[in-house]
Amino acid sequence: MPVFNAESTGQDVVNTFPEQVKDRTIVITGATGSSIGSAAALALASASPRKIILVNRNATKSQELIHFINTSYPSAPITHIVCDLSSLKSVEEASFEISKEAPSLDILVNNAATPPGPYSQTVDGIESQFAIDYVSHFFLTNLLMPNIIAAGLGARVVNVSSSAARHRTQLDFEDYNFSNGAKYTAFDGYTQAKLAIVVFTIALAKRMEKFQMQSFSLHPGSILSSMRSQVSSDDWKAAEKRREEAGTKTEGVKKQTVEQGCSTMLVAALDPELADHSGSYLSDGVISTEAIHALDSGADEAAEKLWKITEKLVGREFTWS
Ligand SMILES: NC(=O)c1ccc[n+]([C@@H]2O[C@H](COP(=O)([O-])OP(=O)(O)OC[C@H]3O[C@@H](n4cnc5c(N)ncnc54)[C@H](OP(=O)(O)O)[C@@H]3O)[C@@H](O)[C@H]2O)c1
Repeated sequence: MPVFNAESTGQDVVNTFPEQVKDRTIVITGATGSSIGSAAALALASASPRKIILVNRNATKSQELIHFINTSYPSAPITHIVCDLSSLKSVEEASFEISKEAPSLDILVNNAATPPGPYSQTVDGIESQFAIDYVSHFFLTNLLMPNIIAAGLGARVVNVSSSAARHRTQLDFEDYNFSNGAKYTAFDGYTQAKLAIVVFTIALAKRMEKFQMQSFSLHPGSILSSMRSQVSSDDWKAAEKRREEAGTKTEGVKKQTVEQGCSTMLVAALDPELADHSGSYLSDGVISTEAIHALDSGADEAAEKLWKITEKLVGREFTWS
């Protein structure tokens, strides 16, 4: 059994499982600039996928990445679709486009996230981190589920979370808007969104089981991507203080490159031996042994409750067949 760790790169993972990439169709959200999504797309392009579809809000950034990848892999079939995850309408429109490009979708990687920042709500009236990082990915995943089911056995949905999910001890998703900001800090917004992603994965894995398809969530590491430079120093210090109290501070911890930072999402997407562990949360390329204490009081119940809350937020109920 291949063993990966914090030093492994996305290319190491793709080189280990080339057959899981060959002729498969893969969608990744949030692949622009020096992000882990970009590094994942580059690594995947090396192993003859049928198609890679970048789902980003900025067409120019998508085209720049496609150009960059094509300098190494000129015939790599990469395309892009515009989607602003801060708008449910944009997500729905993008899902129509993706459906046309990928009638059969083998791997969906829900990776995009907005940097933690001042309180704001999206056009749909949902706190921005919760909306962009989680609710829109819930919506996109469900809208694309017929295509994922069409890919059949072994199709996967990979949800990028963060160790920040471990800092939230309560599953109080009813107040997803933090009492209209009165109870908000940037770090609390981040931990809520990232915990929701882990909880969503549990509900998703349960629903995907009957189709023999899987879903995983993960912490990608502590990475030198562009996200760090977009967080204010005050918000960063406040988050570090909370992390220090919990014994998980990131200052002074060796940072990973984006090539290393994309490895865990690629393990989740490609490693066949994970098939019996659907719903798991991974870190450093393996199933994490670190507890997410908010789930101690009953993960399945919380997962179903969050699913219902989110269906209300997107104004749609999803039953798959
Ligand atoms: N970096 C770390 O240390 C770390 C640690 C734990 C978890 N993570 C998680 O890893 C994932 C990737 O992060 P990263 O470090 O690669 O960050 P990044 O470089 O900032 O990439 C984030 C991506 O999300 C996109 N995005 C942001 N808002 C969007 C919106 N409204 N609609 C569509 N796309 C949007 C960005 O697009 P634009 O270029 O258009 O802004 C970018 O492509 C995130 O889920 C993050 O929370 C990262």
